[in-house]
Amino acid sequence: MTTANSDAIIPKPRHSLEASVTEAAGAVRAIYRRRAVRVYGNKPVSREDVELLVDAAIHAPSAVNCQPWAFVVVQQREVLARYAKEGKQLLLNEPPVVEVVESALPDMDRLREMTSSPDFELFHGAPALVVIYATSAEGVPDCFLAAQNLMLAAWSLGLGTCPIGLARPLFNRADVKEELGVSPEWTCALPIAVGWPDGEAAPTSRHPAKIVAWR
Ligand SMILES: Cc1cc2nc3c(=O)[nH]c(=O)nc-3n(C[C@H](O)[C@H](O)[C@H](O)COP(=O)(O)O)c2cc1C
Repeated sequence: MTTANSDAIIPKPRHSLEASVTEAAGAVRAIYRRRAVRVYGNKPVSREDVELLVDAAIHAPSAVNCQPWAFVVVQQREVLARYAKEGKQLLLNEPPVVEVVESALPDMDRLREMTSSPDFELFHGAPALVVIYATSAEGVPDCFLAAQNLMLAAWSLGLGTCPIGLARPLFNRADVKEELGVSPEWTCALPIAVGWPDGEAAPTSRHPAKIVAWR
């Protein structure tokens, strides 16, 4: 192997994250640039784009390649509006569900204030929702990998996404599963709002990585 070829494959030292992200290949750029989008325009998401996102999702790795996922797409405005309303009501009515969320989210006061506001819309007005169901009890982690694939692929197309964990109780309700033709055995892993962003999502920050052992 020549020196020139070796140079091409050996990563250069990274002095600035921002600079390295700008130079990075598409996948890395998508990882760093994707944001949870909570403001959407009215433009619908085409069937072709939804199919592309679902196809990206199913290319995620899964344990022993069991591919334990199934998808529901909701695009009808009146159905989205009804689910948004019912899902919000569930959140407000059923404290145990909120307690589960509470253990995972640090800023509960902000969350409570947000969800109880009359302006709060569970899906942030997105014109499409893709709900990922785990088709086996152990399949939820695989579905999260599929979800991330979907969100990164969406970013690459210029589409915005927002995971809507708060809508999980609704999509795990027996009557909603029945209405959607979803098996009672399946578990809603993650609903994801999808749409064309209206403006730029605010930047977010990350705590420094906790590498607790490196032996
Ligand atoms: C499992 C999961 C559930 C989430 N549920 C919601 C939700 O119900 N509503 C919402 O607006 N954002 C939700 N989010 C988005 C997070 O709030 C968001 O990813 C986080 O604040 C970091 O922002 P960023 O994705 O723009 O970097 C969820 C994210 C994950 C991973």
